[in-house]
Formats: sequence, structure tokens, C-alpha cells
Amino acid sequence: MGSLKNEEELEAKEAILYVNGVRRVLPDGLAHLTLLEYLRGLTGTKLGCGEGGCGACTVMASYFDRNLKKCVHHALNACLAPLYSVEGMHVITVEGVGSRRSELHPVQESLAQSHGSQCGFCTPGFVMSMYALLRSSKVPPTEEQIEESLAGNLCRCTGYRPIVDAFRVFAKTNDTLYTNAQGPTGGELLCPSTGKPCSCGSKAANDGEKSRACGSGLTPISYSEIDGSSYTNKELIFPPELLLRKLTYLNLCGSGGLKWYRPLRLQNVLDLKVRYPDAKLVVGNTEVGIEMRLKRIRYPVLISVTHVPELNVLSAKEDGLEIGSAVRLSELLSVLRKVTAERAPDETSSCRAFIEQIKWFAGTQIRNVASVGGNICTASPISDLNPLWMAAGAKFRIIDFKGNIRTVLAENFFLGYRKVDLASGEVLLSVFLPWTRPFEHVKEFKQAHRRDDDIAIVNAGMRVYFEVKDQSNCLWWRCPSFTFCIKNKRFFDWEELEQELLQGALAVLEQDILIKEDAPGGMVEFRKSLTLSFFFKFFLWVSHEMDGQDYFGESIPSSHLSAVQSFHRPPVMGSHDFEVRKHGTSVGSSEVHLSARLQVTGEAEYTDDTPIPPNCLHAAFVMSRKPHARILAIDDVEARSSAGFAGIFYVNDVPGDNMTGPIIADEELFASELVTCVGQVIGVVVADTHENAKLAARNVHVQYEELPAILSIEEAVKSKSFHPNTERILTKGDVEHCFRSGECDKVIEGEVQVGGQEHFYLEPHSSLIWTMDGGNEVHMISSTQAPQKHQKYVSHVLGLAMSKVVCKTKRIGGGFGGKETRSASIAAVAAVPSYLLNRPVKITLDRDIDMMISGQRHSFLGKYKVGFTNDGKVLALDLKIFNNAGNSLDLSLAILEHAMFHSNNVYDIPNVRVCGRVCFTNFPSNTAFRGFGGPQGMLIAENWIQRIATEVSKSPEEIREINFASEGSVMHYSQRIEHCTLQRVWNELKSSCNFLNARKEVEQFNLHNRWKKRGVAMIPTNFGISFTVKFMNQAGALVQVYTDGTVLVTHGGVEMGQGLHTKVAQIAASSFNIPLSSVFISETSTDKVPNASPTAASASSDMYGAAVLDACEQIKARMEPIGARHNFSSFAELANACYMERIDLSAHGFFITPDIGFDWETGKGKPFRYFTYGAAFAEVEIDTLTGDFHTRTADVFLDLGFSLNPAIDVGQIEGAFVQGWGWVALEELKWGDASHKWIPPGCLFTCGPGNYKIPSVNDVPFKFKVSLLKGAPNVKAIHSSKAVGEPPFFLASCVFFAIKDAIIAARAESGCNSWFPLDNPATPERIRMACIDEFTKPFADNNFRPKLSV
Ligand SMILES: Cc1cc2nc3c(=O)[nH]c(=O)nc-3n(C[C@H](O)[C@H](O)[C@H](O)COP(=O)(O)OP(=O)(O)OC[C@H]3O[C@@H](n4cnc5c(N)ncnc54)[C@H](O)[C@@H]3O)c2cc1C
Ligand code: FES
Ligand code: FES
Repeated sequence: MGSLKNEEELEAKEAILYVNGVRRVLPDGLAHLTLLEYLRGLTGTKLGCGEGGCGACTVMASYFDRNLKKCVHHALNACLAPLYSVEGMHVITVEGVGSRRSELHPVQESLAQSHGSQCGFCTPGFVMSMYALLRSSKVPPTEEQIEESLAGNLCRCTGYRPIVDAFRVFAKTNDTLYTNAQGPTGGELLCPSTGKPCSCGSKAANDGEKSRACGSGLTPISYSEIDGSSYTNKELIFPPELLLRKLTYLNLCGSGGLKWYRPLRLQNVLDLKVRYPDAKLVVGNTEVGIEMRLKRIRYPVLISVTHVPELNVLSAKEDGLEIGSAVRLSELLSVLRKVTAERAPDETSSCRAFIEQIKWFAGTQIRNVASVGGNICTASPISDLNPLWMAAGAKFRIIDFKGNIRTVLAENFFLGYRKVDLASGEVLLSVFLPWTRPFEHVKEFKQAHRRDDDIAIVNAGMRVYFEVKDQSNCLWWRCPSFTFCIKNKRFFDWEELEQELLQGALAVLEQDILIKEDAPGGMVEFRKSLTLSFFFKFFLWVSHEMDGQDYFGESIPSSHLSAVQSFHRPPVMGSHDFEVRKHGTSVGSSEVHLSARLQVTGEAEYTDDTPIPPNCLHAAFVMSRKPHARILAIDDVEARSSAGFAGIFYVNDVPGDNMTGPIIADEELFASELVTCVGQVIGVVVADTHENAKLAARNVHVQYEELPAILSIEEAVKSKSFHPNTERILTKGDVEHCFRSGECDKVIEGEVQVGGQEHFYLEPHSSLIWTMDGGNEVHMISSTQAPQKHQKYVSHVLGLAMSKVVCKTKRIGGGFGGKETRSASIAAVAAVPSYLLNRPVKITLDRDIDMMISGQRHSFLGKYKVGFTNDGKVLALDLKIFNNAGNSLDLSLAILEHAMFHSNNVYDIPNVRVCGRVCFTNFPSNTAFRGFGGPQGMLIAENWIQRIATEVSKSPEEIREINFASEGSVMHYSQRIEHCTLQRVWNELKSSCNFLNARKEVEQFNLHNRWKKRGVAMIPTNFGISFTVKFMNQAGALVQVYTDGTVLVTHGGVEMGQGLHTKVAQIAASSFNIPLSSVFISETSTDKVPNASPTAASASSDMYGAAVLDACEQIKARMEPIGARHNFSSFAELANACYMERIDLSAHGFFITPDIGFDWETGKGKPFRYFTYGAAFAEVEIDTLTGDFHTRTADVFLDLGFSLNPAIDVGQIEGAFVQGWGWVALEELKWGDASHKWIPPGCLFTCGPGNYKIPSVNDVPFKFKVSLLKGAPNVKAIHSSKAVGEPPFFLASCVFFAIKDAIIAARAESGCNSWFPLDNPATPERIRMACIDEFTKPFADNNFRPKLSV
């Protein structure tokens, strides 16, 4: 073997990298950088999370594999890849794929045309994942492969369906390029489902009132060649230099003395280990990167072993498979697939188990870089593969620095929590996976919150080997932990096996599972139950595998097969049904989002993409670590001496007023004496880089005197901890009298807990603030839904006139309510150093900080008393609701009020009393989130409706129907219902989903399947449109016509993906009778349109559309006399003629929503302009043993009047539905409270995509249909349309109630037919524990209710 010196002699003269075909020399000293940090000068590669969990940073890396003699292309997460790990490679970012100036790549074009980009922040990542898949495939990928390749990319806006449809076209061959199709202004409509001219409707749809059903008639389109060379002639080729260039040894360094080595031979790795025994080997850096960045562990020496041939062996031998420790998981997966196809099935039981397990291991980007050795040596208790290595009898080969090799059985390698049998000088060389024998079976198990890209709650590998001794007729069941013998039987039938073997094994297991009550991760009862469930599944699976073999008699009962069948996800099928009502040139058309083409190319700029001005500083917060405490002392000496430090500021430095708040000023910008939540800002540090600012902030040490903290609604209610003056009451009829009168056949009481939700906009909070004119003016660019609030907060805390403060927002990467008020405090904090130092300051929150401090959807507690007849007619509702506001009022009172307005959902109840209180708790202030309390109020209502159904033995749908409000009904807030389309919507949905048939089929399924159950539900909604605070229902706009006939529109609303600018531009285009392409909206700016309300409450298209129309009408009126004089051939000619006649071509438009207003003193008024009605149906299937579930069908119906843009509206519905799906069935916030003692008090455990799961592409309903009610113009809003943003969110609760329906069927099998509570989100834990059976009973009783932070 050579020496280190020999290899060092081969060291490269320079380290290089190609980025988008351009050669770059990598200087020494950058070992601390990630590829993303290096690339951020390009705007396309985004920072969404920095921990490999969102895919926004996806790029493609290509290298020439000398062994395979081919270029290898793969997608990876640039946020985790160390910069030097791609040395010698070609990195392609979204900018290298295609641009508007050159040409869009078909992947980009298809995504744009298919309405697959809303806010666009996730879009480049999706483009890159798809592009890498196509570049790395020799043949067109299957639809399943496409969906699989997107599992590591998150989108919070679209609901994924349009993205999948955009990419599905590449799965097929022999069709024409869809790019031949006409674009949005080409006259031919594009189907929102396929992104191509509608193949299922007709051109006539353009002409008026035809309706269309898209999706089912999808004609796929693709390319015959997809190897990367034939998309366009501008495709980036692999740089010839890299084909010839040999990889070289690297010895580079980074900040803080970090050393980075890239040896190319094993001996050199060993030599380096002698020199640096504690050096970390890295391959994917997916573990080390997280440790260094998030856990702040310092590793001074990193040895990249990715290119060491001895660690990359992958060879099938006589007795098994040898796998080098640096082999990446995606490589392992393809080799396992190959050997499984080539070898006898008997031999590959382990291989199949690994294939299944790797399928659910992280996302593609992680699997492409993460190594087998990295996973093993991390020895993480949640490793998906380590239990399988142990079960499969794998052996690990370990080499020391002298070259001595020893072999250890996998089951002996793991010594404890993150401890392995590996001395500091040793390296894991390879893994040997033996082939299985006949009668040997290996199976994998994993249950996580989300099926895709999630860490396991419990995982397992199990193996059994049957040894049959003919002479004794004994069957030996040998598992690693048990050996059982069934004696003297000629045949072994299932019941005997169950009795003798299963029960014995379960008894052993039950004793073996030791998890402490307060174990980290919680979910103790679930984890214990899962262990038994897994074994039971294994037992059934093995029995099934052995079916028909010698010695096995009877098969397992057919209903038990439901525990065995593995989950297979069919591709998503989306379909739509709507009518097109065109008005003028553009209104009513399915125009593509105006920024879509900028977004798919990565050219669209977000706040964090703004070029950093010279002299700019970066800010980081000094935050409270206690939920409630007195600040005793602050020691910032260390911070002041840290690198790049430029200043630190506290409460006494605030030039203006330290007290802020959107409604009342009850919130300190900087904490003065007390802190009232973890994450509360105490000070702000500014430094030359973001990293240095964070480091300095961490070096500020605060001494506290801890005070008692209130950490739940229940505690707040008990100690009467409410925000002042927030008691609200609404009444109708006389509840008490009704209960007393005996009219009610039954009266029930109960409690509903409603979980919160993180916004998880893909773009974190970000602001760039600078001063002008010597500090006389302050300007900022902010990611906010409310630029005017930023302006107001900043002027307030700086003591400056509002007229001297400007806030601009071009677009934001999602908001959903989370950037309505909380973003303003963040900008205001950063404004203080900017103003005082007279320098630009940038603040961009890391994902964990963003989630921890910026508030969420409120959790609620509802206590109800409902009286009803034996038919289920509700006569009286007495409801107390509480929301968890956190430590300041923010918008919590308005949110509570909204919940109270919606607390009857769509039901007409003669006697109602709703009392509400806003709870003060020691959590960060909760805030607006799509629906603004409405969904919480409605979810509480549907819970008691569902309970009434159980009480009167009817279906919940029957109860719903007999209680529907109708035309003329008067709500409990005195508003009379007008233009009610609820019954129509409901009836159309009922026939569209064929509800009665669906229920029958589900019942049949449930009859024949013991361990899988299906459930169905239909849920209605009515969502009140308007800000319920009257003055906010005003909107301004500025319209300017130029002499070339183009129009610049500015209005007070913010584009956050919802297509507001597109709809508003359509209104202007139709008004002037010009093409949409002649209208432009650049940005939202407080110096163009003053005093704008936040973009919220779903009402922005109504209000800003009307304000713009008002301005257009004014200009048209001024143009009219000129137009009447001549016959102008174009609008440009007319505009120019008006200019020559000195006509003012600029107008300010204004709109106030008429006829609304509510008086809380009297409890009377009209809070809403109108209602958006909707209904949805879902069918789900649950695995009662694990709690896993999937949505088989979702059918959503909405009344949107005459849609301004059906494609955008469908996109809003799908996006809202999937976000609502997350709220009811997946997303769980875990706070340090009495229910979660393993989390420090007041801290958020779920503060990143690693622990907090939002829906991924594989959670989308298999069949997802969206329909808009036809022929129902809305007389109360612009062009007869209706608002869409929030109303569909709640409809996802049909999934929740379908899950409950399935659980009811499961409980019935155990003889339990009584009502039970189910909290949202219905996670696998809640589902599984509610499906009581023999595997839950040892650990929890029938009334067990998993813990929830409320
Ligand atoms: C977003 C995300 C999702 C994830 N999902 C999953 C999941 O679903 N299931 C799961 O099990 N894990 C998951 N992980 C964890 C991680 O990706 C895996 O453990 C991965 O296999 C680690 O490999 P790596 O090459 O990136 O390790 P690295 O970070 O490069 O190294 C990890 C450790 O292994 C040591 N090491 C590496 N090679 C050797 C060797 N040859 N000899 C001795 N020591 C060695 C290193 O010194 C280091 O301590 C996830 C991680 C992320 C960031
Ligand atoms: S930013 Fe890299 S995965 Fe989220
Ligand atoms: S479009 Fe995907 S996150 Fe907004």
C-alpha cells in the first residue's frame, strides 16, 4: 500500500467545480461552506430548511464514473453537501436547465403551463428533481418513479397534483411535444390538469358556458429521447475537461481550523486515521452535517471517503452480497433490485426486505448521497437499516490502521445508544449480506408519522428460519430472539400456530418492551403496541409465505390477509369539472400565474435573493430560553469579542416605542424585565455574516429567575389566565329554556381538543432594511402579507413618521397568515440596528427559529352541551370555546370571534349560546392561519354532529342534512342567509361521489378484512367572506396607462402564490379590452398604495379587483371622448392620442365592501358580505395494526360563483385541501408541556421538517376530484365570482371523519360500539390506539387518549 506522502504528491494544483457549464476554481479555506452557501449568488437554489427536509435546495451533480465508464447524474440537497464534496463535478442548478432569455426546458415549461407553481419557492427544487431523474434514466421513467423521485421535495401551496401532472407527461413516449401547444394567450385553453390544450373539453368552452371535466381524458405527452441530449440544443453537456481529469487527493481547510481531506485509497484513509484518530469520515454528510449545523458539534477534521474504491465494492458472491461502506443507498437499491430479479426467490428474502425499507428511507436526494456505512456507524436508534442488518445475519468487516481486518456479526456491533464496536483508529470496510435459505424469511417494518421521508417511530427487521425434522414431526421457528418448537404434528395449521407460537412469542415480547413513561419521543403506549403489532404481522406474513409448503396445512383466514398485504400506491389521478364564463379578454380564463415562467427558471426574486447592499450587516436574535422568567443579568462580553461583531441592541436602544401589537400594543419589541415565552427577543446582534451574527448571539448569556409558566389552555382556564377584555358571547333563542323545557330527547356534553398547525411557508421570514438620506428615511424589502404593518411597526419603534418609511414586497414564498403580523416584529427588531448604525441590515430566520418564535394556528378547546331529538334534529347548542393565544394578543381575539361565528358550521340551530375566551399562555404568540379560526369552530361542530349520529344510530351525513341552514335562516350572530347554495352543492357532491354506493362498498370491504378498514365521510362548509373588523374592508389601487398601450397596476395586495396579481391583471385586461400580456404588476409598495389591509381573509381578489376596476373605469371615462372621435386600431394608439391631448392616464381606485358590520355589544349585525359554500367527500383506508392510512378518494365541490380564473381557483382548492389534510391527519406540534415532559418547558420540539411533517407528494388522495358549482353567479362580488383562499381548507376534515368512520368499524370488531373522542391530527398513533385490540390492551385501556399539546 502506498503512503500518504505518495498520494499527497498527486494533489491537485487547483480544486475545481463546474457550475452550469462554467469552470470555477475553488479556493482553499472554504471547507466550512455547504454547496448551497457557495451557490446562493444564483437565485434559483433556495434555502428552505437547511436540513435536507424540504428539497428547495435541490441541484444535480454529475461526475464521470471510470468503472462504469459513464456520466452519473444525481439530485442532491445543496444545503447538506459540503462544497468540496462536489470537487471535480458538474453542478447544474435551475438556471442551467433553462431560462426565459434562452429557452425554457420542457420540464420547466410543463410545470408552468400546468399551474404547478404558485408561490414558486419550492419550484426550482421540483424542476431539479425531475430534471435529474430524466437525465439519469436511460428509458422514460414510470409514473411511480416520478412520484417517488419527488418525495424529498415539499410544496405547501399546490397540493402536488398539478406538479405530478406536469411531470407525468414525461413518463410516456411516442407523443408530440406539448410545447407545440398554444400558450395562455394563444386562444386555446390549457387544461389545469395536464398543462396542455384541453383534450377532454372543446374549444367551445372558450366561448361561453360549456363545462369541462379534465384529467380523465389525459393524453400524455413526452419525448422519444430522454437522455438529456434532445430536449433542446442548448442542453448543458458534461464538461470535456472533467471526462479527462482524474480525481486527485484533496487537503483543504475551512474557517475555525477545519481540515478537509479527500483520500483516494484505503491506505491513505488509514494513515489519516493514525494522524487524526478522532477525525470524522464523511460520505453523504447527512448525519455529520446535521450534527455540525443544528446540534453545533465541532469536528475539526473531516475525511471524505466517497471516492475510495475499496469502500465502494458492490459484488454478488456465492454466499451473499458484499457492500462497501461508502456505497450510497440509491446504488444499493439498484443492485438489490438487480440481484432480486436474477437470483432464486429463496435466496433474496433479505434483499426484498431491504428494497422495501429503502423505498421509505428519506427522499431521493438523501438516498443519492447517504452511505451504508454512515447509517451503520451513526448507530442511530431510529436507523431504518440497522434492525434489518441484524435480523438478516449480516456481518461487518472492520479494518484498523495496520490493515488488520476483523468481522463482527451485525447483532453484536451495536453496543448502545449511538455506540458501536469500532475503535477510534478503525474504519468500517464493508458489509456482508448472506443470501437467505429455503424456509428462511426476512421482513422489514417501519411506522412513521408520514410514510415518506420520515424517521421511524418504531421499526424492525424480523427473520424466521423453519427447520423441519422429519423423524419427530417438529417444526422449529427460529427468530433471532426466540426459538419455538411445535411438536408431533404432521401438519401445522394456522390456529395451532397461533395458539402455540404466536401467543408464546407475544408474551415474551410484552415482557421485553421496556420504555419509560417519560422516554424521549413520547408515544410510549403506541410504541409498545406497535412492537406487538409488527410481530403479529410478521407471523401472519410468514404463515402466508409458507402457505402450500410441506408441513403447512390450513391457510390463514382470508380476512387476516389484510394484515399482510403491503401498501402499493397508485399514481395520483386528478380531475376537474367546472364551467368557463368569460368576461372580456381575460376574466374567466384559466390564465397561467403571471410569474410562473420566472419561478420555474429560478429567476423570480424573493427577499432573500435581493443582492446584498455594500456595508450590509446580518442580524440574529438573542432569545429567551425560559417560558416565564425575570431577567436578572445579561452577559454579552463574549459576544462583543466574537468574529465580525458589529453591535448589540436591547430595549434601552429603541429610539421610539418598545410596545407593539397589531390591535393593542401589549407586546415588547425587546423584553425589558420579564420574558413570557421561549424565543422572545431580548436583544439583537449584528455582524458581518449571518453565521457570525448567530454565533455572537449564542455567546450572550442571560441569567433568569424562573417563574411559574402556563403551558396549556386547561392550565390557563384553571388559573383564569385570559387576555384582558377578550370575553365574547353570541346568543340566539334561549338555550337554558330549551334544555329545561323537555323538547330535547337527549342532551350530551363533551369536550373537543383541536390541535394547532405550523404555517410552514417554504420561504422563512426575511427582511432587508436600509436607511437613506443620512437616516432620514428607512426603506425595506420584506417577505410579508402586510407591507403596511411593516411600515407602521418600523416607524413606531424608530419614532419616525410613516411617510418616511417604505416597505416593498414583490412576492413571498407562501404566507398562509403567518406573515401577516409576526413578520412585522421581526422587521422592526432588525430596523433598530439599521437605523442606529445607519447601515443596511438583513434578517433571515433559520427554519427552526422561524418555527419556534413566529406563532402558529391556534389550538382550541371546545366544551359543548347539545340537545337534540331522537331524529337527530339539534335544538340547542351551548358552547364554550377557548383559544391558545400565547403571550400576546396579536389577532387572537378576531380569530376567536371568527371561530365563534363558524361554530355552527352550516347548521340552523334554534337556540345557541357561544361564549369565548382568549387564553394567555407562556408560548410564542399564535397568529392568523388560513381560515382564521373558522376551521377550528367548524371542527368542534362536526365533532358533536358525529357524536349525535352515534347517539341516535344514524349516519353523520343524515344528521348533517336534517340540520342544514337554508335560504332565510338566521345565524346566531343575526345575519340572514341569502343566495344559499348549500343544498345544491351537497346534492351534487352526493351524486358525484355516489355516496350511498361508496358506503355500501366500504361496509363490504370491512366485512372481509379484519386488519384493514375503510371509512367514508361527507362534510359541508360555509365560509363567511370579509374581514370581520369593518374598517379593514377597504382597498386601494393605482393604475397607470402608458403610451405604448401597456398598463402598470399597483394595488395593496401581496402576491403569495395565490394568483392575486394574475386575477387582478385579468380584471384590468378585460376592463381595457386588451390582452393580459399588456398588463404588468411589479410589486406591492406602501409608497404607491397607502394604508392597505393585510392580504388575508380570502377577500383580496374581491377588494383589489374592485379597486383596480374602479381605477380602470376612471381612466376609460377620461379616454372615452378621445376614443369616440377616432377609430383607433389599437389601445396603444388610443393611449398615445390621449397623452397628446393631455389626458391623465393614471388613476387611483378605491373600494369598500358595502353593507357589512357587526356590533359585539349587541351581538348583532352582518359580519360577512357573503358565504362560500362547499362540501367534500373522502374515502380512506387504515391499517388498524399500525395506524398507517391513505386517502383513496377525495371529491371536493365548491361554489365559486363565476370563477375569475378556474385554473387558479382549482389550484387554491387543491392546495387548501392538502394543507387542511395535514392539519387533520398529520401535522402535530409538540411543545414542552405537562403532556410532553421530555421536552424542556415551553420549547417546541417539532421545529423543522425532520420532526414536523407536512404532507408530501405521496399523501395526495389517489383520486382527487375538484368541481365548481355551475350556473351560480355571486351577486355580491366582482364579476360574479367568489373568494376561494380559505373556504376549502376545512373541507379536508372529511378525511378526518372518514378515518373516524374506519376506526368505528375496527372497534366494532372488538365489541366496542360506544362513542370515543378522536383529536386532530389523526396521526398513526391516534388511529392505532383507537383501534383497540389484543395488542393495545396490555398497554392502554379503551378510553386511552394520546397526548396532545393544546
Ligand atoms: C432529511 C434526512 C432524512 C433522513 N432519513 C432517514 C431515514 O429515513 N432513515 C434512516 O435510517 N436515516 C435517515 N437519515 C439519517 C442519515 O441520512 C443516514 O443515517 C445516512 O445513511 C447517513 O449516511 P451519510 O453517508 O450521509 O453519513 P455521514 O454523515 O457522512 O457520516 C455519518 C457517520 O458515520 C461515520 N462513518 C461513515 N462511514 C464510515 C466508515 N466507513 N467507517 C466508520 N465510520 C464511518 C462518520 O464518521 C459519521 O460519524 C436521514 C437524514 C436526513 C438529513
Ligand atoms: S433547504 Fe435543503 S432540503 Fe431544505
Ligand atoms: S408553490 Fe410550492 S411552496 Fe409555494
